[in-house]
Amino acid sequence: MLFPSIQQAQIPHGARVLLRASLNVPVQGGEVTGAFRLQQTARTIKLLKEKGARITVIGHLGRKGESLAPVHRALSQITPLTFIPALVGEMAYKARKNIEPGEALLLENTRTDPRETENDDLFVEEVAAQTDIFVFDDFSAAHREHASTVGLINELPSYAGILFYEEVTAVLRLTERLEKPAVAIISGAKCETKIPLIEQLLESYETVFVGGVIANAILKQRGFQIGASKVDGTPIAENILNSRNVITPHDVIATKKDFSETRMIPLQEMQPDEIIVDVGSKTLKAMQHHFENAKTILLNGPLGWCEKGFCTQTTEISGLVANTQAYSFVGGGETVALLEQHDLLDDWRFISTGGGSLLTYLAEGTLPVIEAFKKKIKRPKSVPVAQ
Ligand code: 3PG
Repeated sequence: MLFPSIQQAQIPHGARVLLRASLNVPVQGGEVTGAFRLQQTARTIKLLKEKGARITVIGHLGRKGESLAPVHRALSQITPLTFIPALVGEMAYKARKNIEPGEALLLENTRTDPRETENDDLFVEEVAAQTDIFVFDDFSAAHREHASTVGLINELPSYAGILFYEEVTAVLRLTERLEKPAVAIISGAKCETKIPLIEQLLESYETVFVGGVIANAILKQRGFQIGASKVDGTPIAENILNSRNVITPHDVIATKKDFSETRMIPLQEMQPDEIIVDVGSKTLKAMQHHFENAKTILLNGPLGWCEKGFCTQTTEISGLVANTQAYSFVGGGETVALLEQHDLLDDWRFISTGGGSLLTYLAEGTLPVIEAFKKKIKRPKSVPVAQ
């Protein structure tokens, strides 16, 4: 592997460990509504506690610097830790100084300080003070060049946390170590990010099945009737439009614009005042033999318009994939949240916490955090000593 894992590391008892955890979870009405990332990253906190480290946990939530208080409430149900509503400064300094071995505290959202996203050197130094070892455990933020991601890796002796290490090992099975035949199911609303991804996947995946707004856009440009369905203006490359490996739905669930009448129909029967809200069952049936033969299956993005309740075909596909021998990988916040709600996470061999980071990795084959670790290996720092 590219970098050292915290599981293999010799951590001296009482070492001061700064952990960049995966804390960006959905919060509604002041409560966390999906704790998947917290459960995954909490394994690293528990391991560090067992090793007798003094643990300071940091991470981001949202983009506006909202408080981590709700995240603290949810995380402390998984593993106890104290919340300090400060990131740097005297309050944070004193709290960090007084942590006992085997104890953890959580500091305030890294994005409460604008220097975080600027990857400001002085901010990195302030956060890195009172630290022997840095552990990076947030795959979902590994595409960001922020202070608490690449900044701290450049500054401190650094290890990959359990979650981050697992994620990187898993995504390698989608790229460099891909077992073929491989099927990707790519759906969702953002053509801008998914079109380059489809182009990239076509180089190594035998089948790319497309749903959602991206499928609407491809169908339209391939000359099919899609009624009043949503499309966006992202241009679609000729090699996608002409590829026999890019499969779009041939039957669909369609509804009137006011959702008054919903029906499952062949694509040719779409009326001008109807919109496509999910793929049809015949299309799924036709996909089944691709799934049965596949050695790798990747799902990213719900197939239907889930916010409006059209999620049955995504849950259906989850069941089809569960019955195969393939290495099955699902990623993307909305997709994982949907499967979590329907208790279907067990259908998958690997469930990624990545959203944008996963798409970036698949499109570019690396991430800024991976590159920071790689550079680090070329110029190792001395072994940390506990204070
Ligand atoms: C995510 O939720 O995808 C990550 O935590 C990154 O969040 P960001 O897009 O706000 O940087």
